[in-house]
Amino acid sequence: MNTELEQKVEALLGRMTLAQKIGQMVQTERMAIEPEQVKAFHIGSVLSGGGSCPGDNQVNDWVDMNDAYWMASMEEDDEHLAIPVLYGVDAVHGHNNVSGATIFPHNIGLGAARDEDLLNRIAQVTAKEILATGVDWTFAPTLAVARNNLWGRTYESYSEDPDIVGAYSGAFVDGLQGDLGDDAVVACVKHWVGDGGTTEGIDQGDTRISESELESVHIKPYYPAIDNGVLTVMASFNSWNGDKCHGHKYLLSYVLKERMSFNGFVISDWDGIDYLSENYFEAVAAGTNAGIDMFMVSEHWHHFIDHLTHHVVQGTVPMSRIDDAVRRILRVKFAFGLFEKPRPKARPWSNDQSFGSEAHRQIAREAVRKSLVLLKNEQQLLPLAKNQRILVAGKNADNIGHQCGGFTIAWQGTSGNEFVVGGTSIWQGIRDVAAGSVLSTNGTGEDADPALHDVAVVVIGEKPYAEGMGDIRTGDDVIVQAGSQIKGLLKVLEPYGDTLVLADLHPEDLQTITNITSRGVPVVTVMLSGRPLVTNQELSASTAFVAAWLPGSEGQGVADVLFGDHDFSGKLSFSWPRSDNRTSNIGDDDYRPLFAYGYGLSGNQVN
Ligand code: BGC
Repeated sequence: MNTELEQKVEALLGRMTLAQKIGQMVQTERMAIEPEQVKAFHIGSVLSGGGSCPGDNQVNDWVDMNDAYWMASMEEDDEHLAIPVLYGVDAVHGHNNVSGATIFPHNIGLGAARDEDLLNRIAQVTAKEILATGVDWTFAPTLAVARNNLWGRTYESYSEDPDIVGAYSGAFVDGLQGDLGDDAVVACVKHWVGDGGTTEGIDQGDTRISESELESVHIKPYYPAIDNGVLTVMASFNSWNGDKCHGHKYLLSYVLKERMSFNGFVISDWDGIDYLSENYFEAVAAGTNAGIDMFMVSEHWHHFIDHLTHHVVQGTVPMSRIDDAVRRILRVKFAFGLFEKPRPKARPWSNDQSFGSEAHRQIAREAVRKSLVLLKNEQQLLPLAKNQRILVAGKNADNIGHQCGGFTIAWQGTSGNEFVVGGTSIWQGIRDVAAGSVLSTNGTGEDADPALHDVAVVVIGEKPYAEGMGDIRTGDDVIVQAGSQIKGLLKVLEPYGDTLVLADLHPEDLQTITNITSRGVPVVTVMLSGRPLVTNQELSASTAFVAAWLPGSEGQGVADVLFGDHDFSGKLSFSWPRSDNRTSNIGDDDYRPLFAYGYGLSGNQVN
């Protein structure tokens, strides 16, 4: 406990009116609020939802936007106290909303790298790119321990193993927050808690497990983050044994705040309290009384303020709870040094040239190399030689958008090479080192010819998705009721597909491979995916097979390893399924995966 800091918090809290306190408890989306409203309603925080960006999405547009909100928050007069606004984004694999940012592999790939030092450096680079845009806070890292590959957010998870997630959680928080100096941003571990354990992997679904399993699998990775001083925690959309986490006083107020001594603040997820009751007025009290401190309200923040004010006046939310929430928010703002920082335009890292720089991209490229898992390598097909004549094919070969996956520029990601500025596709990376390589004319490999091509690299796999829209639902009825509304979309969401069997999910991929092998050219398959998939047919049709996850903007990292400049070193942090839509996890009773957790060949190994 830092006495000087606590005194500052108490002194400021003591000067605040109820309206000023409740305003601090509100976070809303940039589209829903003007700077003058931030002042008039004493708003504590503004965010960019997935894909939401100012102006032309250039670094200076972000700095200007942040500057305007900050200046409004800092005007002091009789009605308003100068309390700096905190701006939050989902920088979950680099500063992924912003044009020209360095995009790192999604967490699932980083899990295969097994390198805490790398995670720490990625977090430091991400912090610098965030600071370049005048932003203070990222909703990362995700500490989900994904236990079912059907879940659309599996790629946001480092591993099915809580030990890997735990080892990374401290390293990542340390990289983002450091010693809370000029090069720090505020970290946010999410989603508290059990998001990766829902039945059938349904996003925002119900995690039906005992308390001891909740503790040993899903809570465990939060300890290193709290030890490293993580300043914020996001509540989860999922339920635990039927009770929604957003209204769970035991999990929020007792386990997290009291037992685990978390002194920062809890933010809700996007309109996350709206599902606590049919009646929004009641939902506001339920979320506040359960222990949420700041509320992410996409649009209807006026109603939220009116309702919470009403509750305090009528006594259904005690003033002590409001004071506790605001104390926590102010504590974070003071601890982060926000009161001492100049306006965003005048901060040392704002508009910094290192944003998207070669030095940053080198770290992302290293991460790509280390995340690749070699599952099969017959006839010593790998490493390739740079003087070979190589046919490059497959729908994901020249598609940086697909390489990056969801949460890149747009919430659901993008397709093609036009939106992610500054990256390199896998094809471009191969072409740069192997002059004799060609891109298949229509991508499907029908132009394969053993007289012209010694070998083919076929890049296959999933297309981008995010959250519930990435779920795989195996029931007959693939259009299902999602756990809740997501980002203002209809409650009924169409999932990504109905099977984890790639040959059924994306038959075009196997077709491309066999178009080439049937013409007598051996194939190295590189699969992009947000989760392990059932790939028996593609594996047996390929001579070598690489799981590349969602590598991000630096496609050259794939060529670095395919051509043997660096060895394969990635090890599965998720068990690879054998033959059906079931996931098995390390430690399960009937554990019979095709490739066990920890599997991964090196390039000179033959298999
Ligand atoms: C996601 C969070 C994210 C938030 C803000 C929600 O839909 O569940 O992970 O931080 O949106 O964009």
